[in-house]
Amino acid sequence: MNEHENLKFPWLKNFPANFKWGTASSAYQVEGAYNEDGKGASIWDTFSNIPGNINNNETGNTACDQYHRYKEDIELMHQLGIDSYRFSISWPRLFPDGRPDHINPHGVKFYNSIVDDCRRFDIEPIITLFHWDLPQILEDQGGWFNPQTIDYFSAYAAWVSEHFSDRVTYYCTINEPQIISNLGYHIGVHAPGKHLDKERTVEIIHQLAHAHSKAVKAMRAVAKKDIKIGFASTGNLCYPSTTKSSSNDDMEAARIATFTTTEDNWMFCHQIFCDAVVLGKSADLRSIGLENWNDCDELCPPIDFIGINAYNGHEVRARRIDSSAPFSSNDGSANQMSYIIPEFVERGPGFPRTALKWPITPEMMNYGMRFIYDRYHLPIFICENGLSCNDSLFLDGKVHDPNRIDFLTRYLSELGKAIEAGAVIAGYMHWSFTDNFEWHSGYDERFGLVYVDYQSQKRIPKDSFWWYKDVIEEFGHSRH
Ligand code: NOJ
Repeated sequence: MNEHENLKFPWLKNFPANFKWGTASSAYQVEGAYNEDGKGASIWDTFSNIPGNINNNETGNTACDQYHRYKEDIELMHQLGIDSYRFSISWPRLFPDGRPDHINPHGVKFYNSIVDDCRRFDIEPIITLFHWDLPQILEDQGGWFNPQTIDYFSAYAAWVSEHFSDRVTYYCTINEPQIISNLGYHIGVHAPGKHLDKERTVEIIHQLAHAHSKAVKAMRAVAKKDIKIGFASTGNLCYPSTTKSSSNDDMEAARIATFTTTEDNWMFCHQIFCDAVVLGKSADLRSIGLENWNDCDELCPPIDFIGINAYNGHEVRARRIDSSAPFSSNDGSANQMSYIIPEFVERGPGFPRTALKWPITPEMMNYGMRFIYDRYHLPIFICENGLSCNDSLFLDGKVHDPNRIDFLTRYLSELGKAIEAGAVIAGYMHWSFTDNFEWHSGYDERFGLVYVDYQSQKRIPKDSFWWYKDVIEEFGHSRH
């Protein structure tokens, strides 16, 4: 009998022994204490406090109050059994005016405590440096368009590396440059609420690529030991239509659709940022009427992993066009030309969706990660995956979330297939640990394994919490 046949979660068989199981969060979404203990204002403090910007006019002023409740939260993480916790540092909590010459000792103390408490429970801290909360004062001085912001960011990154590298190995520089630029600077539903045109918006991605590369160099220069640096990217990931017959054409079409920059996907694609900072090459921006970047060789200092925030993808099938060229080649044979045109498969009525109406497409975890790995050849961290449900307390005082368990089973099984096919996946950070402030959607959308009653700040582990704990435990047992 196969050693894995008795597993409750048979799909775990493909996950490598050193796989990291964790959860993720970000400062603005969980910390609260927005103006306490010397913290400076961020663009999110400003933006969410302007009436009309956020669903129900909610703000992150208090959020999950993790600033005061981190001990309880980390103890719960320990109970969950995770071995890693991805969280972000609020830049203005550490450097209230963004500049490196004025540090806030309360901020230092707070992040020291998070790191030390995690380590006390053998939870590996994974630090994100920029999860969208730019110091407001820097935005007022031109934000990412001002080269000084990039200098200050790399000084902040260097400080974090120098200070924490004795205790923290993993760092993500920037979270989702795609969403920062698109929702923050183009569509304007995120801070700082700008409506720039395509050219200026893509320029934000370019500036973020500079910030990333400068930070990577600065961090390595002062690290006290070998540190692992990456970033978290998000974007369209496609999967082939004929998964059963694994048609090569459909596979190729899905790959092409994933990485071709078009007028429809430039706001939400991996390659504009990732090709520059990983491959040192400009994505083809001429296809959207812009100049290619000519400085990509400066943007790609070596990094150690690529983080992917994976939520949903799109099914694609191939249309093959064969045409005979009007002339023959030298050997006299007819010159056959053959193209694959990717076609997006329409989602039918009633397609499964999460509470945020995001389509449920687990296959993207398999094919998407394979495409990413084939292109960038870096170990992949799933830096985020999860779904929003409108969870609520049941009469029995518990939070039952079978949808989340079903979703995660599907996505993780598909991730196992990517691993089986050869993609190197280093870890999985569930988004999120607790419910939290979901940006312009406010608090209605709940992504957590732990329910938060925002009136009392009581934490209630959902059924999915216990399920994830079982997964991690079975993984542990099956590897010993
Ligand atoms: C990506 C972002 O990084 C995170 O902040 C957000 O809450 C989740 N996706 C869900 O939308």
